[in-house]
Amino acid sequence: MRHPQVPMARPLMGPEEAAAVARVLASGWVMQGPEVEAFEADFARAVGAPHAAAVSSGTAALHLALLAVGVRPGDEVVTVSHSFIATANSVRLCGATPVFVDIEAGTFNMDPARVEAAITPHTRAILCVHQMGMPCDLAAIGAVATARGVALVEDAACAAGSEVRAGSDGAGSDGWQAIGRPHSDAACFSFHPRKLITTGDGGMVTTRDAAVDERIRAWRSHGTRDGVYGLNYRMTDLQAAVGRVQLGRLPGLVVERRRLVEELRRRLPTVAFPVEPLWARSNWQSLCVRFSSANAAAAARARLEAAGVAARPGITNAHEEPAQRDGLRAPLPESERAHRECVLLPLPSGMTADELNRVVGAVEG
Ligand SMILES: Cc1ncc(COP(=O)(O)O)c(C=O)c1O
Repeated sequence: MRHPQVPMARPLMGPEEAAAVARVLASGWVMQGPEVEAFEADFARAVGAPHAAAVSSGTAALHLALLAVGVRPGDEVVTVSHSFIATANSVRLCGATPVFVDIEAGTFNMDPARVEAAITPHTRAILCVHQMGMPCDLAAIGAVATARGVALVEDAACAAGSEVRAGSDGAGSDGWQAIGRPHSDAACFSFHPRKLITTGDGGMVTTRDAAVDERIRAWRSHGTRDGVYGLNYRMTDLQAAVGRVQLGRLPGLVVERRRLVEELRRRLPTVAFPVEPLWARSNWQSLCVRFSSANAAAAARARLEAAGVAARPGITNAHEEPAQRDGLRAPLPESERAHRECVLLPLPSGMTADELNRVVGAVEG
């Protein structure tokens, strides 16, 4: 008998989400309204941010956050190439040019040591990414942003539920702070179905800055401000009602993923797992493992496919995509190696022992 496919991701949805949607339908108000407002308040409270604005996608969140910190045509934004294409596209949507810096091999995140050299008089912002949910070095990157007087925006599309241990500024007694608590000018989340919590599509921007929040709220709903025309980037109340239920599931989902990753780490001794710095806790939205060579990674992907296990190549690089080839950049050897030597393994919510065994069997060959 052929096993069913082990999927890359499996959103956890139940009767609670169905009841929430039914409640909104019965209310007769389905567009942005009281549920969006309540979801924003819930999300702000959950991460510890003064402001949270819901939008229609993670891409919309990035576009509006960059505009809100002042990115305009002719500006440069220092970011990584090694990310989903929406990171670089959001810079282009503002008429600005992405300047790509390389990643650290272990964390797959922006190498803070390379940021300073990429800053020019045209730099308006740094757009860092918590890739696959692994927090990037906000303290080091933030120090460069402050020293050079440029804005810092976080692409936290994958990072709902991830945490960093920061200084003693009123965080919980153990010092862990959610990504989304203000560590920068704005943090941008996605609720695409591949993320831990989903609204079908959707996004959120958290910020400490009331003016940033106000601009985003205007632009997401046709308001024109500061020479920027308004858009329709609204989340619907149907989506927000689902999001509120999903948010309640987030802590449990993170615990499950940490347990699954620890088990896989123990049972897959021949591959390298991402490095989780001492000051970071990943939500393990995606699990990427590194093989000894590009050939070994390709062979493992073929074995996974033959076993009916979904797998993907390592994260793509924007500078290798036609749309973003003309971004400015220094050489990006670690980004290129990571794409070729890594494989993204499935981590569906509710992963069964059988599914996990099949992943282990196919990776180990
Ligand atoms: C790093 C990163 N940035 C941005 C996005 C865009 O988010 P969305 O699909 O919600 O527009 C995604 C994923 O979808 C992502 O992984």
